[in-house]
Amino acid sequence: MPGTPSYPDAAIEISLAAGNLLRYHFENRVGFELKSEFDLVTEADRASEKLIIERLRRYFPTHSIQAEEGGGQEIGSEYRWYVDPLDGTTNFAHGYPAWSVTMGLEKNGEMIAGVVFDPTRNELFAAEKGAGAYLNGNRVHVSRVETLAASLSCTGFPNDSRKTNPNIHFYYQMAMETHGVRRGGSAAIDMAYTACGRLDAFWEIGLKPWDLAAGKLLVTEAGGAFSDMHGGAHSMKSPTMLADNGLVHEELLARFAAIFRGELRHPMPEIR
Ligand code: IPD
Ligand code: CA
Ligand code: CA
Repeated sequence: MPGTPSYPDAAIEISLAAGNLLRYHFENRVGFELKSEFDLVTEADRASEKLIIERLRRYFPTHSIQAEEGGGQEIGSEYRWYVDPLDGTTNFAHGYPAWSVTMGLEKNGEMIAGVVFDPTRNELFAAEKGAGAYLNGNRVHVSRVETLAASLSCTGFPNDSRKTNPNIHFYYQMAMETHGVRRGGSAAIDMAYTACGRLDAFWEIGLKPWDLAAGKLLVTEAGGAFSDMHGGAHSMKSPTMLADNGLVHEELLARFAAIFRGELRHPMPEIR
């Protein structure tokens, strides 16, 4: 189609438009509904998804789209967009400024373009397969921290499966052995921060493809490692994920393996 932007340019243009719409809703405070016991959704999630899907359909009518709020289309294309119209809805609904819009494009099972846009800090992270990862147009790389002891990492906890998610145990063990473990509340931002070296690692159990599609490309294009929490290849169906700077990867996997086996170095302390 004449005037159709390239895939990365389309992802950037659409994410900026959706992010500006989200910022308007954030500044004017929206109410939320519960999707399930702890899982929030707002009018802003739906408005952002509508905008993104309309534009993707206009530019790329033959592409499949998988979007969190269900507005996508599966049409058997070799191209599939993963869309999270608002990543960090709980933060957003409480007025806590750590949320983003994120989208990624896969071709035949491989990520080829991805964007994470954080409107409250005006930070746009973008990656294209083979062309690197960028923050506001400047190339970024993962950190050079070599040991877990000297690392700052991050994790998250899905709302829809919190009662069956063991991640708090990983959180606790890691928090005792590192500079700290953050819980940012937007997995897409957490992976973008791993790509640009603000964090040395990020892991989570139970993320969905739309949460991590762009982040996966950002981290690998920034020189980092991406696998499941057992060290196996990560696929969109993997129940766990680990993104890091590559240097702490083996040490992290060894620690995770011990925790999976139930070998907890740090039992719950008594208050003294
Ligand atoms: C959530 C955020 C959060 C992560 C959850 C996700 P949502 O996405 O990314 O940081 O820990 O697993 O579900 O629901 O706000 O789009
Ligand atoms: Ca999400
Ligand atoms: Ca979302």
